[in-house]
Amino acid sequence: MGETIAAVQQDIIIPKHVAIIMDGNGRWAQMRGNKRVAGHKAGVESVRSTVSTARKLGVKALTLFAFSSENWQRPEQEVSVLMDLFMYVLTKEVKRLHKNDIRFKVIGDLSRFSDKLKRNIAKAESLTENNTGMVLSIAANYGGRWDITQAAKKLAQRVQNDELALDDITEQTLDEQTSLSEFAELDLLIRTGGDYRISNFLLWQSAYAEFYFTETLWPDFDESAFDKAVEDFSDRQRRFGMT
Ligand code: IPE
Ligand code: IPE
Ligand code: MG
Repeated sequence: MGETIAAVQQDIIIPKHVAIIMDGNGRWAQMRGNKRVAGHKAGVESVRSTVSTARKLGVKALTLFAFSSENWQRPEQEVSVLMDLFMYVLTKEVKRLHKNDIRFKVIGDLSRFSDKLKRNIAKAESLTENNTGMVLSIAANYGGRWDITQAAKKLAQRVQNDELALDDITEQTLDEQTSLSEFAELDLLIRTGGDYRISNFLLWQSAYAEFYFTETLWPDFDESAFDKAVEDFSDRQRRFGMT
């Protein structure tokens, strides 16, 4: 076993904002002859360890894709287990986040969630709102297209109310209406599970993010797997369109 980055404090550039498409839970379970939902349950431990590693490394914002706009199309029973897990994490884990100075936030279209879930989300967000160590955003019923659409709608509304001129619709003002705009620009987007696609995640925000794809299935994504992604990021040269 190699030493972790946090332990050796090597000269590594730590990304300020990391987002992860946590994929591969179902396959992880099926490979073991279990039902897909067993993989989602195992995935919760990877969320815990990833949050703690990110905090140790000094990442300022961590955004996790937990449930996409398209995931409603899964069998009802699987959707319901995912909702239960979300509720469980909200009620059981938020205290620990708070103790570690982590701000908690949910991004996505919450209108489809139960009132109870919405209340718990609001409670967790307000408990942790003044924490500054790191912000953990959970993307739930989130879609990149939804995000851009809702931002456009907000600007259109302001134009309609004569609060904004048409020429004031700029990249800057649209950006301000998208999710995560108050945090550091996205540096690193990780996808586990071996697929090479973005699945409607942070379309607007990933314009200049570095992408890191790994075959590792989400329940196997541990501290050393996260370290590897950060080391890989640190070795890259970002040019942002310049020479
Ligand atoms: C990711 O794992 C978790 C969610 C999408 C909620 P999957 O459930 O997509 O697992 P695979 O990709 O089918 O293995
Ligand atoms: C992306 O995984 C969504 C989440 C990880 C929450 P999916 O498993 O839903 O993506 P596809 O279907 O492979 O594109
Ligand atoms: Mg998947």
